[in-house]
Amino acid sequence: MAIKTCIFDAYGTLFDVTAAARQAAAEPAFAKIRDSWASLAQNWRLKQLQYTWLRAVAGAHADFWQVTRDGLDWALEAASLDGDEALRQRLLDLYWELAAYPEVPAMLRALKDAGYQTGILSNGSPEMLQGAVASAELELLLDDVLSVESVGIFKPAAAVYDLVGARFGGRTSEVLFVSSNGWDAGCATGYGFTTAWVNRAGEPVDRLPWRPDHLLSDLTSIPQIAASA
Ligand code: LAC
Repeated sequence: MAIKTCIFDAYGTLFDVTAAARQAAAEPAFAKIRDSWASLAQNWRLKQLQYTWLRAVAGAHADFWQVTRDGLDWALEAASLDGDEALRQRLLDLYWELAAYPEVPAMLRALKDAGYQTGILSNGSPEMLQGAVASAELELLLDDVLSVESVGIFKPAAAVYDLVGARFGGRTSEVLFVSSNGWDAGCATGYGFTTAWVNRAGEPVDRLPWRPDHLLSDLTSIPQIAASA
């Protein structure tokens, strides 16, 4: 089935979620996390994602900015850094303007030049996504940015993946869905999308009923995969 639309997860896929802690750690004011920033970033991300799943199952939705702050507060307390309001605020400010991975602009440009529809489908709130897309200067390379806030539940609820067909049309298999989250790529396969998992860290495949169709180490080959899928 020919791919017509390429849809990207945002956080961790297009935008480097570890960049906030890494950058703060390089600033003299926050030298105290110079050696521990990686575990802080890992705990922050893990708790942020756990809270999305728990809130979805419990029917207690709050937007991704709330969940992001809650995850950070857990991670700061675990590192005995709770109470450092300047560090907390700096990390949150940096999260709002995360760097895109270096290959992202050229990859999206190649997809647009080849005639694909492109978009983001993310847990992020519309305001967060607007901030990240603008600071990475990706506005002109994306046809739309879809947020779970329009359905009020987080991934991997099918209602979230439904947003792609509602906006772009076509069959689910004509969508190449790209995520760095193994669980997101696996569940999107179950939904019916053609999927690619960007596994930068070389993690094992998630033990779910579905596996990603394509396994990648970065985003460079997405235009080739879209053309050959
Ligand atoms: C997102 C999270 C899951 O952008 O990375 O949806």
